Amino acid sequence: MKIDCRLVPAFADAKELRGKTAVVIDVLRATTTIITALNNGARQVIPVATVAEAWPLYNELKEHSPVLLAGERDTKIIPGFHLGNSPFEFQRETVADKTIILTTTNGAQSLVRVAEADEILIAAFLNARTVAQTLVRNGRDIEIVCSGSEMHFSLEDTLCAGYIVHEILALFPEAELSDSVRMALLLLKEYGPDMQKAVSRCEHATVLIANDFSADVVYCGMTNIFHNVPVSRQNSITLNNNNNNNY
Ligand code: MLT
Repeated sequence: MKIDCRLVPAFADAKELRGKTAVVIDVLRATTTIITALNNGARQVIPVATVAEAWPLYNELKEHSPVLLAGERDTKIIPGFHLGNSPFEFQRETVADKTIILTTTNGAQSLVRVAEADEILIAAFLNARTVAQTLVRNGRDIEIVCSGSEMHFSLEDTLCAGYIVHEILALFPEAELSDSVRMALLLLKEYGPDMQKAVSRCEHATVLIANDFSADVVYCGMTNIFHNVPVSRQNSITLNNNNNNNY
């Protein structure tokens, strides 16, 4: 099993992802929010790259089932949308049985970019250990894609990549690691083991704290509170509770 890590989504070449499992990470906050929404009963999350794509999709889907428009630009709710991108907005009473169309600055973009991978898993600190267990069980080559921040490196996503690889190595020490993965492990050693503290010091955390999202930053640094892995198929992200695929 080979493990590589793309430190920003621009490095993720769609064709190179064929035959591999892609693991998409956006700790602050898109993948944390997706994991939370699905664990609170959302039916599916559909990521879209732009606000312009979100509206027609919403108008089409709302004819058939309950749908919410969610997302952010500059961390804030998009005008006319039902929800922003704070995981705390995705409570069970709001999202249960609903389809959520999500557009965010970075996370939604990387989800769209990895569409050609054989399998796409959604990861954050919230479910990192279960992601690692799933990857070892599946045994395919792995491409971890950090969403970063507007195509720049972000420490929190790389730390989460390192955390997942650390968990993989505990189960499967023979995994072959790329240089970027070795770097993620070094960063984890430097900033760990307190992930909440590490996340709170990251650049995007300071922006979120300044915009009154301090509680989000604390939550996004929590490790292993969920024991399932959302999967994206045909651009629909679900928890797969209804079939037998091990997730
Ligand atoms: C993103 O996808 O860019 C982020 O989740 C931004 C945020 O809402 O903090």
